[in-house]
Amino acid sequence: MTDTERRVAFVTGATSGIGLAVTELLARQGVAVFGVARGAESVRTMVKQLREEGLEVAGAVCDVTSPEQISKAVRAAVAEYGRIGILVNNAGRGGGGVTAEIEDSLWDDVIETNLNGTFRVTREVLSTGLMRDGDWGRIINIASTGGKQGVELAAPYSASKHGVIGFTKAVGKELAPTGITVNAVCPGYVETPMARRVRQGYAGHYGVSEREIQEKFNAKIPLGRYSTPEEVAGLVGYLTSDTAASITAQALNVCGGLGNY
Ligand SMILES: NC(=O)c1ccc[n+]([C@@H]2O[C@H](COP(=O)([O-])OP(=O)(O)OC[C@H]3O[C@@H](n4cnc5c(N)ncnc54)[C@H](OP(=O)(O)O)[C@@H]3O)[C@@H](O)[C@H]2O)c1
Repeated sequence: MTDTERRVAFVTGATSGIGLAVTELLARQGVAVFGVARGAESVRTMVKQLREEGLEVAGAVCDVTSPEQISKAVRAAVAEYGRIGILVNNAGRGGGGVTAEIEDSLWDDVIETNLNGTFRVTREVLSTGLMRDGDWGRIINIASTGGKQGVELAAPYSASKHGVIGFTKAVGKELAPTGITVNAVCPGYVETPMARRVRQGYAGHYGVSEREIQEKFNAKIPLGRYSTPEEVAGLVGYLTSDTAASITAQALNVCGGLGNY
C-alpha cells in the first residue's frame, strides 16, 4: 500500500482518554477510523463531534469481552470502510487491591478486558478484517509500564499488561514476514478519566487526599508530571507511518522516564 491510498483504522476504547486522542490524531492524518466502546451515547457523541470537524470517523458499540460484539463490529468496520490496515487495541480497565482480598470476578474481568480482549480483537481483524490480505498492516497494543514492572496493589492489572506485552512480542515475530508490524505502547501515568479513578482508589486505600496521591505520583516521574493522551497518541501515529516499518515486536514507553527499560 502507498501513502496516497486511504488507510483504515479500528480503535477500541475510542471515546475517552488515550483512545480518543488516537482516533483524533489518525483521523486528522487522513485515516478513516472506526472506533468502538461500550457506551452507545459516548460512541455517538465521538462520531458526531469528529464528523463535524470534517473527519472520516464511524463507530459502533462493542464490548471487547464479547466475542459476538467483536465479530459484529469488525464486520461493520469492513462494510463501512473496507480492509482494516491499522488496529489499535486500547480498551482497558484498571483493577486491583490487596491481593488476599481480590475477588475472582475482579481478576477475571481485568484479564478478560485487557488481555483476552486484545487477543480476540486481533484474531478477528486478522481473520475477518482482511488485514492478512494486504502486504501492510500495523497492530498497536496499548499496554503500560505496569506491563514491565510490578504495580503495587494492582496485581491483576499488572499481570494483564505483562500478558499484553508477551502477546505483542510473539505475534510481532509471527507476522514479521507479512509486512504487518505489531508493537506495544506503554504509557506511564497519563491524565485521563481512568487516571483519576486510579488516584481515587489509592486515596481511599491510604486514607489521604487525591491531591496527595497525585503529588506522590508526580514525584516518582523523572519529568515531574503525567503524560498527556496526545503524547501517547503521537507514538501510535508514528508507528503507523511507513518510516516505522522496521519497528516490530517491541514495547515502547511514553512515561516521562518512569519506566527505564
Ligand atoms: N491513563 C493512564 O495513566 C494509563 C497508563 C497506562 C496504560 N493505560 C492504558 O491505556 C488504555 C486507555 O486508558 P485511558 O486512561 O485512556 O482510559 P479511559 O479514559 O477510562 O478510557 C477507556 C476507554 O476504553 C473503553 N472501554 C473500557 N472497557 C471496555 C470494554 N470492555 N470494551 C470496549 N471498550 C471499553 C471506554 O469506554 P466505555 O466505558 O464506554 O466502554 C473508554 O472509551 C487502557 O488500556 C489503559 O490500561 C492508561
